[in-house]
Amino acid sequence: MQISSTKVPGPVVPSFTRVITALSPVRLPFDSLKYTYDNANIYGKFYAIYFDNQVTYVISDRKLVYEILVERHAEFHKAQILRDSIGELVGNGLLTSEDSFWRRQRKLAQPAFHFQRIAAYGETMVAQTQDMLREWQAGETRDIAHDMMALTLGIVNKTLFNIDVRNQAKHIGELTYILLESANDRLNSYHPIWERMFKTRRRREEKAMHELFAIIDNIITQHGNEDKGDLLSMLLAARDDEGNPMSAKQLRDEVMTLFVAGHETTANALDWVFYFLAQNPEVEAKLLREIEILNGKPPAVHDLPNLPYSEMVLKEALRLYPPAAGATRQPIHDIELGGYHFTKGSNIVISTYLMHRNPEYFPDPLKFDPERFSPAREAQIQKYAYLPFGGGPRVCIGNTFAMMEARLIFITILQHYRLTLATNQPVQAEQLFTIRPKGGLKMKVVKP
Ligand code: HEM
Repeated sequence: MQISSTKVPGPVVPSFTRVITALSPVRLPFDSLKYTYDNANIYGKFYAIYFDNQVTYVISDRKLVYEILVERHAEFHKAQILRDSIGELVGNGLLTSEDSFWRRQRKLAQPAFHFQRIAAYGETMVAQTQDMLREWQAGETRDIAHDMMALTLGIVNKTLFNIDVRNQAKHIGELTYILLESANDRLNSYHPIWERMFKTRRRREEKAMHELFAIIDNIITQHGNEDKGDLLSMLLAARDDEGNPMSAKQLRDEVMTLFVAGHETTANALDWVFYFLAQNPEVEAKLLREIEILNGKPPAVHDLPNLPYSEMVLKEALRLYPPAAGATRQPIHDIELGGYHFTKGSNIVISTYLMHRNPEYFPDPLKFDPERFSPAREAQIQKYAYLPFGGGPRVCIGNTFAMMEARLIFITILQHYRLTLATNQPVQAEQLFTIRPKGGLKMKVVKP
């Protein structure tokens, strides 16, 4: 292939933006989703953002994505920006580790995510949802984003550790929130000069991290070695080819990784499902009709194959708002890609968000239409154009877990209540660590 001598087309961010960002004591409002979307409309599926001497390549061409994630995956690592933002929190866990170390850990952790194993968590997922619903009252307005975050955190706690951390759940939730907020800021703010000058934020983060590490270490120590049916039991029992268990530090890194990766994403997926149901009464009505086959009985994992529309609705919500907006990579040596030369360490963002909204891949892309995922139409979706859970060897290890969890949760909620938007204000999506509704999601709880 001929290598282009020109630069990848794309916007040049003026230097004064950097000065303004650096001088601002707060994060300036910046709609990164709109920015990437507008740029893609101008520059296409492969463009670059030039920001002083940094370049970020934004890719939403499914063939290039396939090349990076699958064909040539061994030539890429996760980008440094990911490690800078959450490396301290998740250490060398599955999300951030690389090469043979990652391969070994993935092999060790994989059995914990086999379908039979996670199917056993279905009851916990439904029971925790029912517990949450006991606190809800018809007619009230709730922040559903907050509720879904607390619920999925409770579920990850229970399925990871099988101990009732409900008494500590609120505290763990607060600590996690502080940590993810700081990670978000590092990921999004271009110049954290203020953070360096005013160390309070950093001290708060360090304090929260130490506290959370101590809680997790304590849970691991108390857990014991017998199989309690939870994910931690599997990680404790895992042995590598030489028969060695994971070190205490590695165990904590993996637990922290599952903890971080395993709840915010699912919570956001649920927010968007409820948002779209409220906006699309005909979809909601069809879903409610489907759920009637349960005759009011709480859903179980074995019911899910009989509830295919619920899966279509979830997949369509994940298309328009994929909670992980994309994946980051950097080449481990100089490479050629898409007719251009990339130096080692170049910052690449694979934008799932853009692929999912590209009319070439999804006709009438902004329309919420679960029928796209009917078996006949889903089979026509071009390969590697729909990737809410990523792809290739580093595909999300928790994808089956998340799909099952989200469906069981929204089906259980819909058996009791419908949710309508509390105001006529449009809900705006913002990309922090994940794509979430900006400022929460205020919804009114209505008895059907
Ligand atoms: C709707 C919910 C979820 C979404 C959209 C999601 C999305 C993703 C994506 C896109 C990746 C790949 C990132 C990359 O290639 O750079 C990923 C990786 C990962 N996810 Fe998820 N995820 C979800 C739920 C979960 C859950 C429930 C867990 C665990 C209980 C989990 C654990 C992980 C881990 C450990 C990785 C790293 C895997 C590896 O590199 O080997 N995720 N996720």
